[in-house]
Amino acid sequence: MANGEGGHKKEGLSMLIFGGTGDLAHRKLLPALYHLMAEGRLPEDTRVIAIGRKPKDDQSYRTEAEASIATHSRTQVDKGQLARFMERLHYHQMEFIREPESYQGLKAYLNEAERKAANPVVRLFFLAVAPEHFGPVVKHLHDNGLAEKGNPRHRVMIEKPFGSDLNTARELNHSISQALEESQVYRIDHYLGKEMIRNILAIRFGNSLFEPLWNHHYVDNIQITSTETLGVEGRGAYYEQAGILKDMLQNHLMQMLALITMEPPVDLQPESVRDEKVKALKSLRLFNGQSACDQIILGQYAKGGGMPGYREEPEIDPASVVPTYIALEAHVDNFRWGGVPIYIRAGKRLDRPRTQIVVEFKRLPGVRNYESFRGLPPNLLVIEVQPAEGMYFQINAKRPGNEFKMERVELNYSQRNQYQGNVPEAYEQLILEAFNANSSLFTRWDELEYSWRFTQSIEGTCPQQEESFPNYPAGSRGPGVADEMLASAGRAWWEIELPCPGGVC
Ligand code: BG6
Repeated sequence: MANGEGGHKKEGLSMLIFGGTGDLAHRKLLPALYHLMAEGRLPEDTRVIAIGRKPKDDQSYRTEAEASIATHSRTQVDKGQLARFMERLHYHQMEFIREPESYQGLKAYLNEAERKAANPVVRLFFLAVAPEHFGPVVKHLHDNGLAEKGNPRHRVMIEKPFGSDLNTARELNHSISQALEESQVYRIDHYLGKEMIRNILAIRFGNSLFEPLWNHHYVDNIQITSTETLGVEGRGAYYEQAGILKDMLQNHLMQMLALITMEPPVDLQPESVRDEKVKALKSLRLFNGQSACDQIILGQYAKGGGMPGYREEPEIDPASVVPTYIALEAHVDNFRWGGVPIYIRAGKRLDRPRTQIVVEFKRLPGVRNYESFRGLPPNLLVIEVQPAEGMYFQINAKRPGNEFKMERVELNYSQRNQYQGNVPEAYEQLILEAFNANSSLFTRWDELEYSWRFTQSIEGTCPQQEESFPNYPAGSRGPGVADEMLASAGRAWWEIELPCPGGVC
């Protein structure tokens, strides 16, 4: 994806975090901003204003922020750089929902803070608040002249979930579009800020090796996996609404699918890339009623390995039928991908944390008479997003020695090995690119619309599967039926271990 290059160096930055006392701000945003400052990626004229409802002053907020940065920073914290960052960090208390008039106070505060700026200032409003507040906060920002419609320097970054279904997403989009132009809205899918996901375009279009083979003539199937060992982590109430479909499939997995299957964009400009992603999402075959149930496997974790079952977690209905696991066979019905199954799976409380894309190439025809080639594994291209960040290419070659025996050979690339400690976190990239007005790392409205449409075609389709919930123990590989789904087509899920340099991923 295009990097927003240059052109903005002379602008200052006011970064306003709504939800400044929340978990996201402390775990991700403050450490990301600290790193961006420390590495000189933000202008000298930067101010970060954390907004919250709790009474605090700059000093007490800074003390908390220091502790969070020390805990969550990806490198050892540099005291001098931290002190510089702290000088730019402020806290502003306001009731941003209950008291709309408080926005006038924020406006006066911000105008005063920006008064001495020598250069124009970009305002980035980061909404790290509950989803039901997205619409109202944007409206108040607009009505009070803090974010002017059409002003390219006024941008809003919105966390997920964007809506809870296609209709509510449309309503939210409508209300935001009253206040802001689409180009001012940066909808976050933090997976787009992950290094190896940004790398997909580079790998696909920067190598003459792959693009000619990237189609139904040569690809047997594609597998997109995102498994976690974590459970719902104190977010039970949210998860009961979301489940795996809205928490992972509708956003992160759809984005990976779009990047892997899209056509080459005309250029790497954000809109060109997004145009192609939309076309891929639009070509997704929708599931249609009960008949689709052999292509969809839903699951929910039971207790296991000393961990509670989903239904025993705080804030969860003891009879909940919310899925925490999904595996499915998707199809992108276009000339490139017709007939190629795209297997997707994601789940909570599984045996390992791993986000990986595997492209399995077809076996060569016409080698029946090559005795030594019988039963050779297929070529695989593996892009590992996490925990190892890297790539793996599986080929077959002759084993050294007199005999003509074949063996599997692995070509590995480990990004972390080469750039130890230097790989920025997703939120660093997202904030920086929003500041640079590069929207390619953010989802455009129509991408969301088509991913909602696909996700909704799954919802409620297979109620009989819910009767078997819970159907996999915490800490396991997930429901066995997900393996059977591939086995019935003569395939299996690939479980590729990429090396972690020094045992650290
Ligand atoms: C979030 C989901 O969007 O992504 C979480 O809400 C999930 O439930 C998380 O754990 C996974 O992100 P990552 O970066 O840890 O893979």
